[in-house]
Amino acid sequence: MSDPLDLTDYENKSLLRFTTSGSVDDGKSTLIGRLLYETNCIFEDQFAAVEKTSQQRGDERVDLALLLDGLAAEREQGITIDVAYRYFTTAKRKFIIADTPGHEQYTRNMITGASTSELAIILIDARYGVVTQSKRHGFLISLLQIPHLVVAVNKMDLVGYSEEVFQNIVDDYSGFSQKLDIHDISFIPISALDGDNVTKRSDNTPWYEGHTLLHMLETVHVSADKNFVDFRFPVQSVLRPNLDFRGFSGTVTSGTIKVGEEIAALPSGKTSRIKSIVTYDGDLEETFAGQAVTLTLENEIDISRGDMIVRKHNLPHVGNEFDVNLCWLDERSMDPRSHYILKHTTQKIKAYISRIQYKIDVNTLHREATDHFDLNEIGRVTIKTARPIFFDNYRANHGTGSFILIDPLTNHTVAAGMIRGQTRDVNTVTQTKHAESRRSTNVKWESGMISAQNWERRNGHKSAVIWCTGLSGAGKSTVAKGLVSALFSRGCQVMMLDGDNVRHGLCGDLGFSDQDRSENIRRVGETARLFYEQGNIVVCTFISPFHDDRGFVRDILPEGAFHEVFIKCDLGVCKRRDPKGLYKKAEAGEIKDFTGIDSPYEEPENPEVVVETDIHSVESIVKQLESHLLECKVLF
Ligand code: ADX
Repeated sequence: MSDPLDLTDYENKSLLRFTTSGSVDDGKSTLIGRLLYETNCIFEDQFAAVEKTSQQRGDERVDLALLLDGLAAEREQGITIDVAYRYFTTAKRKFIIADTPGHEQYTRNMITGASTSELAIILIDARYGVVTQSKRHGFLISLLQIPHLVVAVNKMDLVGYSEEVFQNIVDDYSGFSQKLDIHDISFIPISALDGDNVTKRSDNTPWYEGHTLLHMLETVHVSADKNFVDFRFPVQSVLRPNLDFRGFSGTVTSGTIKVGEEIAALPSGKTSRIKSIVTYDGDLEETFAGQAVTLTLENEIDISRGDMIVRKHNLPHVGNEFDVNLCWLDERSMDPRSHYILKHTTQKIKAYISRIQYKIDVNTLHREATDHFDLNEIGRVTIKTARPIFFDNYRANHGTGSFILIDPLTNHTVAAGMIRGQTRDVNTVTQTKHAESRRSTNVKWESGMISAQNWERRNGHKSAVIWCTGLSGAGKSTVAKGLVSALFSRGCQVMMLDGDNVRHGLCGDLGFSDQDRSENIRRVGETARLFYEQGNIVVCTFISPFHDDRGFVRDILPEGAFHEVFIKCDLGVCKRRDPKGLYKKAEAGEIKDFTGIDSPYEEPENPEVVVETDIHSVESIVKQLESHLLECKVLF
């Protein structure tokens, strides 16, 4: 066995972080004590003290759980320790155990201890079998996406090392865990008290063909579980000790980056290259997840605390509304009307729970309807933040996919959340600009004097945005003109916003790059929204080739106000029509970034209406659109 104080090779050994959980008296402390003792990771005097206490108490055996009693004593004195970290090492690996004491607050403790763990041990008392707590822990482990689970069936000595008892527990727990998202699960019969199958194979369980617990801990393959791909560097602080040095400090959440590589800073989207990676111990050529470093860049770009440095071609999601798995950790129940502070990487942002989807019964894993969560309850909610954040889904990236909620009044951490995905994906830097961060400071939305109902009563119809999207030459403007004229004849308050026209003034400074098209749609979308609010049916005709841009306009309007009309026409037909001679020029290379030639068109996935101009006449299409507007009660 290795000497714990022998630091030779210590740095080169791989590290496994694991967590242990169980219910009261299941022998968790004894198991940890035994692991520390049998790997020679306790000092002689510590062991002697424990041996003496055991003798004084008249125990038959040395109670290794006493090794962990320092902690219990501290707890009794009212010192709150949520998670105690213990270290031990063997010839093969270094280990950090996140020991999560406390029973009332187990969810909280487990989340704190387990969120960085690569393996979890659940202890089950062989005499009692699978209990609610064992399921709860399994569920949390699956939610936290800890990749490896070891179910240690403890106290086998008290059931006569019965294979049948063990097998029943294995069957029972396997039945439950099938419904969970855990892919690597092993079962071991042990006795922490007697040391069976902890570090040495036991003769008492000849029917057990698996490995010892320590062997599993030493050999489980973990590096594949880490995210080495997506470089994420939330900026903790900006260092400017003198005019010649400007560095951004923080801890690499995931991925790696090298000197010279191209980065983008979010939210600005500005790009540069890594000039140097500075640490206290000198400069590095490359930095990895977990390292605290200061990055300097080749260009001066404006970056502040809370911003994120990422690889230029590997961006996180950007958004201010997302679906999450939420664990409620506070004695005070969730108040869905309250605002909370969401802490995510280095940012703190005002947030609220915009929708409670359901909570989970951990025994059955069934969903239940609810209007709030109580202590330790877990479920799915939608969270909205005051500003967009840069995040990944928890499954892909634990660091940028998790957050906590803080009650601003009590300053308590009230919940922990794992992001499942965005309500709508806006995965481009330009979209960040589109979102609320685009709003000027010190401005307030001025509501109109006239209510929507009053506009409706006077106009005899609802307001709406009819968004015609399609290729150049598909017939958007022709259809739109037909519709505007039909609506005008009905006496509607109608207006048109057309791609070519807005590019004569409002958007005359924009070209046809992806970014410029996004900005074009943002501006006209915002314009349409202003007219929408004042009673108009706004007919818009823009190629608007990108999902995200059209989605942006849909999102800034009230539910049901945006009617996406896909003006569908075969590209070959558009080319033949070529009303402005632009396809010819594009094919001759005289125009760049032409939609359908060298710039993409993303067809709508779920448009409200599809019209086919290569099959039907303009008159029948206008009728089709009028029927749609009647059907959804814009017209009546
Ligand atoms: S969008 O992509 O930003 O929605 P928009 O509808 O405003 O485009 O403008 C398209 C009009 O600009 C076309 O009808 C065409 O007349 C003209 N145009 C000029 N260059 C291009 C180009 N490269 N790609 C598409 N349309 C172009």
